[in-house]
Amino acid sequence: MITTGQKIAIQRTDASRLPSTDLDNIKFGRVFSDHMFVMDYVDGAWQKPRITPFADMRMSPAALVLHYSQTIFEGLKAYRTEDGGVSLFRPKDNIARMNRSAHRMCMPTIPEDLFLEALTTLVDVDRAWIPDGDGAALYIRPFMFASDEYIGVKPSDTYRFIIFTCPVRGYYSEPVRVKIETTYSRAFPGGTGEAKCGGNYAGGLYPAKMGQDAGYHQLIWTDGLTHQYIEESGTMNVFFNVDGKLITPALDGTILRGVTRDSIIRIAKDEGFEVEERKVSVEEIVEAARAGKLISAFGAGTAATIAHIASIAHGDEVFELAEISERRISERIGTVLDGIRRGKEADKFGWLVRV
Ligand SMILES: Cc1ncc(COP(=O)(O)O)c(C=O)c1O
Repeated sequence: MITTGQKIAIQRTDASRLPSTDLDNIKFGRVFSDHMFVMDYVDGAWQKPRITPFADMRMSPAALVLHYSQTIFEGLKAYRTEDGGVSLFRPKDNIARMNRSAHRMCMPTIPEDLFLEALTTLVDVDRAWIPDGDGAALYIRPFMFASDEYIGVKPSDTYRFIIFTCPVRGYYSEPVRVKIETTYSRAFPGGTGEAKCGGNYAGGLYPAKMGQDAGYHQLIWTDGLTHQYIEESGTMNVFFNVDGKLITPALDGTILRGVTRDSIIRIAKDEGFEVEERKVSVEEIVEAARAGKLISAFGAGTAATIAHIASIAHGDEVFELAEISERRISERIGTVLDGIRRGKEADKFGWLVRV
């Protein structure tokens, strides 16, 4: 049984860290707002939804999550809007994705209305932490982990669900150098690629480090079976502008269903650009690059929104896009997307939820 309609208890801090925080100089993911939302799953139900001061917590060294990685997370943002308000961007899509991840990882789902109320209440409590200005937002991190004190591979009976927030500014400033990865894999058919579970990211660290040691910011992941098809770029979805057409790998179960990816596709189509979601082979992109038809490429995700790619390495070849890049399409889409988030453009797709 899942308990809904519970009131969220709020315990405010009496020692806010905001006065000693410089919101104009924040490192991504290093600064945390004053409060967090916490709720435990015990005896088959979500219990005691509450907002408390952000603080360390106690857990058993035998907690299941620490050994077998039964943990999932999300990432979304709240923005200050032009009318002085605050809005969440597409939170229901993140809630739905978190619940799909929960299903894949044998974890309990979270009632959508309670999840949304937790998000809006927490952001409201820490509203003063939302920075203002270009690229500034409140990054919101919901996550859930297995908390049973037990050594043995099985789904936990108890879980903790937490949401905390971080004030952030821009993520990547410079276009990134990427390498097409054809040795290691992030995901494979039947695996957990589509779930936002911790293990996917831990497994990507070593190949990413190898890439970084060789001078690349990010990897372009390819399919785990043949390494012939492009999947994602680092922790972002990836788009290519080939001859004026926007191409992105189709969702096939191994790729994360990015909210930014979907937003870009919908805005691009609405703006009259041609978009193709389909299998994208490495060969096709390499051929387009050789022929000078790869006009630009970019990663898409909540953290960076659009991260332009400066160069793509494949084997011994390096294709420099920076010089030929013509970013009319991505810049137009980025402007519309940012305009919607900030309330400068009409929310024609119904994406904002006001706090
Ligand atoms: C592996 C991966 N792909 C893509 C994305 C982009 O998804 P979104 O646009 O929902 O942030 C993310 C970030 O959440 C990610 O971790």
